Amino acid sequence: MFKSGMPVYGKDFINRKQHIIKFNTYIKNKQHIMIKAPRRYGKTSLVVHIFEMYKYDKIYVDIKRATSLKSLAEQIIDEAYKYAGIDSIILKAKDSISNLFKHLRGTLKVDIEVAELTIETLEKNEKKQIDEIELFLYAINLVETIAKKQNINIKFAFDEFQDILMIADNKILDRLRSVIQHHQNVTYIFLGSIESIMNKIFSSKTSAFFHFARIIELDSLNTIELKDFCRDFFKEQKISYDDFLFNIIDYLEGHPYYTMKTLQSIYYKALENNINTIIHKNDCVEALISAFFETKSYLEEVLAKIKQKKHHHSVIWHLANNLKDASIDSPTLYKTYKSLEDMGYIKKLERGEYYITDIFLKILFQQNNDTRLLEEKVEFKGLENQVIN
Ligand SMILES: Nc1ncnc2c1ncn2[C@@H]1O[C@H](COP(=O)(O)OP(=O)(O)OP(=O)(O)O)[C@@H](O)[C@H]1O
Ligand SMILES: [Mg+2]
Repeated sequence: MFKSGMPVYGKDFINRKQHIIKFNTYIKNKQHIMIKAPRRYGKTSLVVHIFEMYKYDKIYVDIKRATSLKSLAEQIIDEAYKYAGIDSIILKAKDSISNLFKHLRGTLKVDIEVAELTIETLEKNEKKQIDEIELFLYAINLVETIAKKQNINIKFAFDEFQDILMIADNKILDRLRSVIQHHQNVTYIFLGSIESIMNKIFSSKTSAFFHFARIIELDSLNTIELKDFCRDFFKEQKISYDDFLFNIIDYLEGHPYYTMKTLQSIYYKALENNINTIIHKNDCVEALISAFFETKSYLEEVLAKIKQKKHHHSVIWHLANNLKDASIDSPTLYKTYKSLEDMGYIKKLERGEYYITDIFLKILFQQNNDTRLLEEKVEFKGLENQVIN
């Protein structure tokens, strides 16, 4: 099946064979990693898929969803205790400490002193004797303690890691690094979608996390493998198709989310045409148009961000339309490219050329007729003459 809008794993996960090998070699060997990719390139899917595939002992937290360091700490404590034989320790502690200890005696797989210290730390935080940073660092250390006692290595993924700076100030990075650098039984995986902040955290010489993790860049999906997947899928479903389907795949440049969104619409369309399940060229184009318009409000948000910075709109517009922006000098152009790259919207190819990572964003910049756009008509430059292989 083609899924969109949620992380995919298992049989829904398409290709990335090289990435899986590389990623798994690192984490199997306890090498901390950071995964860098533009939005919706499949960072979360890759991690979830590998966790599932290799059945690792794991903890996954999405920092974007955490409202405070305290709630994050509690979530980590809960997850850590699962490896010590206890579910929902926080809830149980809030309910009744004496009942909790009765329960612990039967099931706890670590020394009772560990649990006593946890309860004491939680109480100290409630009484404001320690702040939420201390509680958070305690939770992080607890994972190491439990993993060590159980003689396991826990793979600990922080999704949307850059958002930690939304719930704590900059100092958290130094504090966190100084704690986790001593850990032997936890392998850290950091994911982030705001490239500029992730770069600052992991690649800036002055940052606490400089050289802490190997950086893996996630590219778009391989279009040849995508086509193979489609051939097998539609064959199995007994659905025939116009080869124009492959133009669409090439045209979307392997963008994981947009490709899945479009293929999903194409598939549903085929099911609707159920008398003689066949995918026509028109179905493909219609699916592409609807995927584009479903994404448009997100694209407009991106556009607004780009417009906030000087020259950025003009530079990326010229790039999308394959034109040279004569209005700005080379140093400014270079600086603007660098900044757009940091924002995650463009990437450098060899020979100093850049491309736009979000194909729908590029398509939006290529629309030079607002009236047509209003009528939900889109010009897909180059779609007809894609080379099929
Ligand atoms: N390997 C894959 N196989 C099939 N579909 C994929 C794959 N990777 C990503 N996708 C598609 O892309 C969508 C986005 O994937 P995911 O949420 O993992 O990306 P992300 O990089 O974590 O995004 P965000 O920046 O929003 O956190 C998925 O819902 C799915 O449709
Ligand atoms: Mg994600």
